[in-house]
Amino acid sequence: MIKHRDIKSKMIKAKVLFKHPIVARHVPKTVWYNSQNLKRMLDGYGSIYVKANKGWQGNWVIRIKKLSTYEYELADNEVAKLIHPADLETELEAMMDKKTYIIQQGIDLATYKGCPFDIRMVMQKPYDTWELTLTAAKVASREDAVVTNVSKGAKDYPLNDIILEYDQKQDPMATLKELINLSHQISGILGSSLPFRIIGLDMALDKEGKVWFIEANTRPQCARCILVNDKSSVDKFENAQNIIKRER
Ligand SMILES: Nc1ncnc2c1ncn2[C@@H]1O[C@H](COP(=O)(O)OP(=O)(O)O)[C@@H](O)[C@H]1O
Ligand SMILES: [Mg+2]
Repeated sequence: MIKHRDIKSKMIKAKVLFKHPIVARHVPKTVWYNSQNLKRMLDGYGSIYVKANKGWQGNWVIRIKKLSTYEYELADNEVAKLIHPADLETELEAMMDKKTYIIQQGIDLATYKGCPFDIRMVMQKPYDTWELTLTAAKVASREDAVVTNVSKGAKDYPLNDIILEYDQKQDPMATLKELINLSHQISGILGSSLPFRIIGLDMALDKEGKVWFIEANTRPQCARCILVNDKSSVDKFENAQNIIKRER
């Protein structure tokens, strides 16, 4: 069995997924940050995310929303400001750190009681096949939140509760099927070209109900997520962890 390795680069994982014709449709367009790409991405999408390629826990994530030809909203999880498009690069770069950034198509996240949420799907490969173990919906604590990380105030909920009750709810069973199916395809693709045996997928639903991949964490924090799962899922997670750890 291969040894699990932590690979932080979001771009490496997105690029592998873009090669798959079906899965690629569920991955937001992702390019390296530079002036030209910034302009192109803003021409193509109503909102974009500029985030550190090797960031974690919702740090270094900035959202740009086009409000009109004359006004953009620039926001991270702490501050939001309205700016003129001509000032974008200067204002944006003042918020950025000395890190390598990517630009990603913004997904208009579905909401629960007005607050955006995304979904954690923990996939593990104790032997030679992937299994889904823990799941959770991470609901931001504010309507205007830019990130839905638990470390930034979002709360974990049982996935079924949110799928049954979120504001734009469609067919819950179809949504769940699509989420599980896509998570299996993603872990299969990533696991066949990269040394992974545990992946915490950040998946999302947009307001139309489409399922999206946001990122794959290869060192997922599961302490709080465990609390919203049934005992058999937690047992499955812990058994898989024990097998994977033993082989490290
Ligand atoms: N392209 C995007 N569209 C919509 N929301 C996003 C996008 N990228 C990131 N986010 C929001 O920001 C959060 C953090 O981004 P993520 O890529 O998961 O980085 P981190 O490694 O910091 O968790 C996500 O959980 C999601 O709430
Ligand atoms: Mg994340």
